[in-house]
Amino acid sequence: MFDSGIGGLTVLKEVRKLLPHEHVIYLGDTARVPYGNKSPQTITKYALESAIFLLTKGIKILVIACNTSSALALNILKKKLPIPVLGVIDPGAKEAVEHSQNKRVGIIGTKATVKSMAYVKAIRRLDPGVEVLSKACPLFVPIAEEGLEDDKIAYLVAEKYLEEFKGSSIDTLVMGCTHYPILEGVIKTVMGHGVTIVNTGRETAKAVKNALEQKKIINDTGKGGSEYFVTDSPESFREIGSRFLGEDITHVKFLKSLDYKDYLLFP
Ligand code: DGL
Repeated sequence: MFDSGIGGLTVLKEVRKLLPHEHVIYLGDTARVPYGNKSPQTITKYALESAIFLLTKGIKILVIACNTSSALALNILKKKLPIPVLGVIDPGAKEAVEHSQNKRVGIIGTKATVKSMAYVKAIRRLDPGVEVLSKACPLFVPIAEEGLEDDKIAYLVAEKYLEEFKGSSIDTLVMGCTHYPILEGVIKTVMGHGVTIVNTGRETAKAVKNALEQKKIINDTGKGGSEYFVTDSPESFREIGSRFLGEDITHVKFLKSLDYKDYLLFP
């Protein structure tokens, strides 16, 4: 599983709950985070580098935990990799379409995710009659990383970003970014009772389980675990990541770069 940084740990948290017997190798590209403001070319290049690193670890399935990378690079990774590849967009879109009664769905994510229209396209593929409203909420990422989810600043920012959804009669809102589950309480409070919030990480975990079952490569016995690799500052990954994951992260390995010459030839 890879992400631009620590955010994907909200996806890992859900995967661990559903697949406790699997061994998960998590790569956070913390040296180059955030991806959400970068160009499609750069995001795709970074995704390919992360995927190649994880392939060298002998993985049986690849989960793109990052919404931005899923939005821009899922198709190319699916085409190029010899193993199954899953992103977070399709599972989130599926849940939104199945859940929405009035066929009006909101999407929040990074600028790059929203601009890519990946969620809109995924939802329309499932049901062309669904109306989709999207909004980039970039400040949610630093607010979550700073641990300010219960501070009034989080409410002010959420009010500002989400105000256009409030008069729009959406009944379902997809958290299309890894960090947003940390702010789920604030988002729920601002949107009110009539709107269901979709956690894409939770839906992705179900999709990963289905894929492993279908391909008959699931581990349903034995002790699972997680292994962590980052491209910058293992200490801050441990500290912020433990909060995102909801459990202590003790051991994190530092990768000096995602250039294969660095980790294969001169590890
Ligand atoms: N992981 C990213 C996502 O889910 C958010 C952080 C970033 O911009 O890199 O879109």
